[in-house]
Amino acid sequence: MIAILGAMQEEITPILEMVGEYKTVQYANNKFYLANYKGKELVIAYSKIGKVNAAITATLMVEKFKASKLLFTGVAGSLDESLKIGDMLYATSLVQHDLDITAFGHPYGYVPGTSIFVKSDVGLNELAKKIADKKDMGLSAGVIATGDQFICDNEKKAWIKKIFNASATEMEGASVALVCETLGVPFFILRAISDGAGDAAEFDFDKFLQDSASVSAKFILEMVENL
Ligand code: ADE
Repeated sequence: MIAILGAMQEEITPILEMVGEYKTVQYANNKFYLANYKGKELVIAYSKIGKVNAAITATLMVEKFKASKLLFTGVAGSLDESLKIGDMLYATSLVQHDLDITAFGHPYGYVPGTSIFVKSDVGLNELAKKIADKKDMGLSAGVIATGDQFICDNEKKAWIKKIFNASATEMEGASVALVCETLGVPFFILRAISDGAGDAAEFDFDKFLQDSASVSAKFILEMVENL
């Protein structure tokens, strides 16, 4: 079973449209869509925005629906001037930018018993690179910084970029990464850029959410075909 997870309805709608037929299972105040796509069993869901919602849904996809791989699809704010709206980026590692017990002498993003960065699966990342090369598509790689905040502020954006050397920011990836790492499930986190995470980013987000979500979703189904 392969899990495809998004945060928002808009992020999984293109997947459901391309998959065509599916069965809906209601569980834990959410809907899980079971489908067969080109011979692959899929469980598809959107978690609702934020780290806790994403962690709940990722855990259920693994523990209840028995996913053995998880692919995340969605949009992100760019922290890197070279990443423009519609560009795709996968996470090499992920960090929670809003996890802060620096008052006790720890670095940002760290709590005892964990590491600051969670690394994604090298095999899935390599597959993504191969597909992008074959199709002559642009695909960047970098650190994704996750937090329970929509970043639309130049100073905050610069801070996240500087502290974590991150290329993009969003609100779920690092929590999904931590769930998957903890449960021993290989994961891949793909985001297409919807905005620049600077002042007034919310306007670009609203404007480009659908198109960027669709860019990411299409690539994720290419991955599924090749798994
Ligand atoms: N997802 C897409 N754009 C974002 C932003 N600017 N901040 C947080 N999450 C996002």
